[in-house]
Order: sequence, then structure tokens, then C-alpha cells
Amino acid sequence: MLTQARPHHERLWLATVDPTSSSDLGFLYGTLILRLEEPHTNISHTELPPWDKHVAFVAGRPYGLRHWIIQTPCFSKGVCYVSPQNEVGIYIIPQARREGIGTWTLAYLTARHSNLVANVAKTNLASFCFFARNGFVLEAELPTQFVFKGYHHVTAPQLRSSKQ
Ligand SMILES: CC(C)(COP(=O)(O)OP(=O)(O)OC[C@H]1O[C@@H](n2cnc3c(N)ncnc32)[C@H](O)[C@@H]1OP(=O)(O)O)[C@@H](O)C(=O)NCCC(=O)NCCS
Repeated sequence: MLTQARPHHERLWLATVDPTSSSDLGFLYGTLILRLEEPHTNISHTELPPWDKHVAFVAGRPYGLRHWIIQTPCFSKGVCYVSPQNEVGIYIIPQARREGIGTWTLAYLTARHSNLVANVAKTNLASFCFFARNGFVLEAELPTQFVFKGYHHVTAPQLRSSKQ
């Protein structure tokens, strides 16, 4: 039924990335591999790092504790982060797109982190539409990317559980 097309919202949560978890490291590495199949969506990710560099990168906690896996009871659906510069990044695995998971994630982050910034490759139409649709405002156009700014929202989906 069409009304059940987006059934996951109430069963999603963000789990803080655990750099000592082989499951987390493996999932994140998988997303890096998948991202190479969509080069038009990437600003800086152009090649797959070796596994040991990946492990060291995650262990270095580049986003502090603001690095999450988007989780359902059975599957990991994507990854997101908020950088120290307040840049937001969201990656949803291809099989889980257009189910509202990205929107849910962005609403959750926007409610908790003010002044988020999204850098969008000019070739990434989906991301452009996604941030515009979700209330982000186009602030600047750079040679290779658009810069969107988010504003604090007071309401957000409730999470089943969350570690931040
Ligand atoms: C961009 C991304 C995060 C969107 O996640 P998602 O879960 O598929 O998005 P949603 O289902 O919440 O979509 C919300 C709206 O965004 C827009 N949108 C999403 N994907 C789109 C696409 N491929 N083309 C056009 N608009 C799109 C639509 O307006 C959509 O609403 P609709 O489905 O009612 O038309 C996802 O496509 C993704 O992970 N892409 C690869 C990584 C990336 O580009 N990340 C963004 C840069 S940080």
C-alpha cells in the first residue's frame, strides 16, 4: 500500500560509530566502496583508502562523537556526521533511498545542531534537491560546489534510542 511506503521512521536511530567495532568499520568501508560508483556525488572522495588507513582515520575520530551509523533493528542504512566546522554529511545506501531516511536524519541533526552547513558537489542533483527540499538555503556558489545553510528546527522525529 502506498501509505506504508515509508515504514521505517519510528524504528530508525543513530548509533555513534565505534572505532573498535569491526562491524562498524566494515560498514563504513563498504560505503566508501559504494561511493566510488557515484563519483558525481563526491567532492573529495576519489579513491579507496587501504583498510589500515581507513581504520586509523575512524580511530582518529575526525568528527568527534558526531559520527553515526543510521540504524534499523536489522540493517544499517547509512552514515552521517557533523564536522567540527558544522558541515553535515549524510550517505544513505542506494537500496534505502527515497524512503525518507535522509529527511529523517537531517531533521534529527538540524534539531540538535544549529548553523549546519552542507557542501554539495555541483554534479549532485539529488543532494541539491534533498537539501533544498528540507529547508536548507543556498548561501554560496563556488567553482565546484554549492554551499547550503541549515537553520535550527525545534521539532524532530523522536528516536527509539540514541548515543551522542
Ligand atoms: C541525498 C541523499 C542523502 C538523500 O537521501 P534519501 O533518504 O534518499 O532522501 P529522502 O527519501 O529523504 O528524499 C527527500 C527529498 O529529497 C529529494 N531527493 C532525494 N533524492 C533525489 C533524487 N535522486 N533526485 C531528485 N530529488 C531527490 C526529493 O525532493 C525527496 O522527496 P520525494 O522523495 O518526496 O520526492 C541520498 O540520495 C544519498 O545518500 N546520496 C549519496 C550521498 C550524498 O550525495 N549525500 C549528500 C551530500 S552530504
